[in-house]
Amino acid sequence: MTVWAVLVAAGRGERLGEDRPKAFARLGELPLLAEPLRRLDESGWVDEIVVVAPPEWEEPAILLAEEIGASKVSACVSGGATRTESVRAGVAEVPEDAAVIVVHDAARPLLPEDALERVIGALGEGFDGAIPGLPVVDTVKRVRDGAVVETVARDGLVTVQTPQAFVAPVLRVALAGRDGSDCASLVEAQGGRVKVVPGDERLLKVTTRADLERVTAWL
Ligand code: CTP
Ligand code: MG
Repeated sequence: MTVWAVLVAAGRGERLGEDRPKAFARLGELPLLAEPLRRLDESGWVDEIVVVAPPEWEEPAILLAEEIGASKVSACVSGGATRTESVRAGVAEVPEDAAVIVVHDAARPLLPEDALERVIGALGEGFDGAIPGLPVVDTVKRVRDGAVVETVARDGLVTVQTPQAFVAPVLRVALAGRDGSDCASLVEAQGGRVKVVPGDERLLKVTTRADLERVTAWL
């Protein structure tokens, strides 16, 4: 069973506000991208990796992979205008014989090995996909024009992270449809069964400067 990882790193990082894409913002000594790439490369669950780089940053991404000795990188491609477009570009590089595709946000650099184990392991139970989720702790309200419309019952709600693992052909079919904010929503839209496994606070997505500082402290 071959497991391919698609590492999406093609976003612009507008909310981080640096002079370069978020994947190349400093995290410790190296560009942020180095951390999730090294972790995927060292993972016992991952066989091959496709890196989806920001347009015009493919070359620096390849050099970085060489610098850290990431030997599982099979391809580095340029991303698209949306996250889903970038995933499509990455999945297009995955050969037909791949059994499982794991999609991970480079913006979540601190990828724990056991998170990969949980999502990939769940596919063995007959699910089409598996995603990490964390229970919602705050009260959730629907708001319109600054006024509360509804307080949403919190039980049963989770916030979801990556890595997200899928049976490869199921993800390919799902990507032929509309865009979504994550890959699982595309699979769900096709009637696929997606399991939620425990998430991890360390999978925090770096969005702002404060997130980058938090992740740096956890390195
Ligand atoms: N991503 C991507 N291609 C895009 C948009 C996003 O590969 N066109 C990736 C990002 O690189 C990131 C992940 O999807 O790893 C989640 O996106 P997000 O956190 O929103 O990152 P950015 O889009 O870069 O940040 P911002 O929205 O602040 O510009
Ligand atoms: Mg974005």
